[in-house]
Amino acid sequence: MVKVELKGLIREFDDGSKIGPIDLQVQDGELLTLLGPSGSGKTTTLRMVAGFIEDVGGSLLFNGRNMVNVEPRERKIGMVFQSVALFPNMTVFENISFGPDMVGWSREKTIDRVEELADLLGIHHLLLRRISEVSGGEAQRVALARALATNPELLLLDEPLSALDLQLRERLQTEIRRIQRKLKITTIYVTHSQDEAFAISDRVAILDNGLVVQVGTPEQLYDSPANEFVARFLGSGNVVSGRITDISEGRLLVEANNNLFEIPGDGEINSQITFSVKPEDVLISDGTSSGWAEAELVAITPQVGSFKITLDFNGTPIIALTYDEELVKRMRVNGEKTITFAFKPESIIILRG
Ligand SMILES: Nc1ncnc2c1ncn2[C@@H]1O[C@H](COP(=O)(O)OP(=O)(O)OP(=O)(O)O)[C@@H](O)[C@H]1O
Ligand SMILES: [Mg+2]
Repeated sequence: MVKVELKGLIREFDDGSKIGPIDLQVQDGELLTLLGPSGSGKTTTLRMVAGFIEDVGGSLLFNGRNMVNVEPRERKIGMVFQSVALFPNMTVFENISFGPDMVGWSREKTIDRVEELADLLGIHHLLLRRISEVSGGEAQRVALARALATNPELLLLDEPLSALDLQLRERLQTEIRRIQRKLKITTIYVTHSQDEAFAISDRVAILDNGLVVQVGTPEQLYDSPANEFVARFLGSGNVVSGRITDISEGRLLVEANNNLFEIPGDGEINSQITFSVKPEDVLISDGTSSGWAEAELVAITPQVGSFKITLDFNGTPIIALTYDEELVKRMRVNGEKTITFAFKPESIIILRG
């Protein structure tokens, strides 16, 4: 298959805005996801890799060969577009065999390939139906089969599941992952859903405003967001801003919302600092403890195996997770409004940039 490298890949638009420069590597057989909010440049980046955008700067290497000036059809790419672009009046079979027909495969070879993919995707019974007679989820499978039909070396998927309900989306995520692993096909997947990205990817690249701001495994991103944008976008951490009031022996004293927090790290006295704390690293209590901060209880949401506690810390939302059923019961019975909380100091992540 293929190893893909984007080196300073960039497209500048007439209005002066641009997507890139983007530096990114996708290993042979890897599933890498581009994750970012609407307008961050995911589709544009994918289309630059596919060759559908002209006047692209920088370089794009497939196994070391620069592809920027290579025609899209010679890039050996299978693509599923953001809006499913199947031919509604053609049958499922005709849609999947479209690519093989275009490149002149024999009838026999084409039929074998369509049947193989139809089996892999569980759509064999639909082959003779028209696209207008299949469901949205089935159409997505057909789009995937069509993208895979000519044995591409690189698969590009642009929000292939966004139109489906949650249950079907989760099922197809698992399917896509299974098929991608089985075929060992290098894949770039685009989504704006963190859950989806984390569920199916080897690694995730986070885009903000046309630039890659962080690349890593889901675990790395969750544990160590590189900056405030990533922490907020992933929603994995509480983000708090304050001012450094004292420094001693690798510990900072930070004033935030009229409370003091001790944070391991270094910085400059009187400078502003933003940090992130994951919900599982927020300690809560219905009593008072010295050094703990106070916040208003906003909501208690039961989850599988835990409770999500939403607090209002002088205007800053704080989410805590607790497994302490007794504590939650007491808070409910006493109609507790004010809760005290603390951050596990060693779990605080200082965000820069
Ligand atoms: N041809 C163009 N001329 C000017 N601006 C463009 C052009 N194509 C894309 N853009 C801009 O580039 C930005 C990124 O667009 P893109 O479609 O890549 O975003 P996206 O991350 O895929 O968003 P979504 O999640 O909504 O699909 C947008 O602000 C868009 O308006
Ligand atoms: Mg898009």
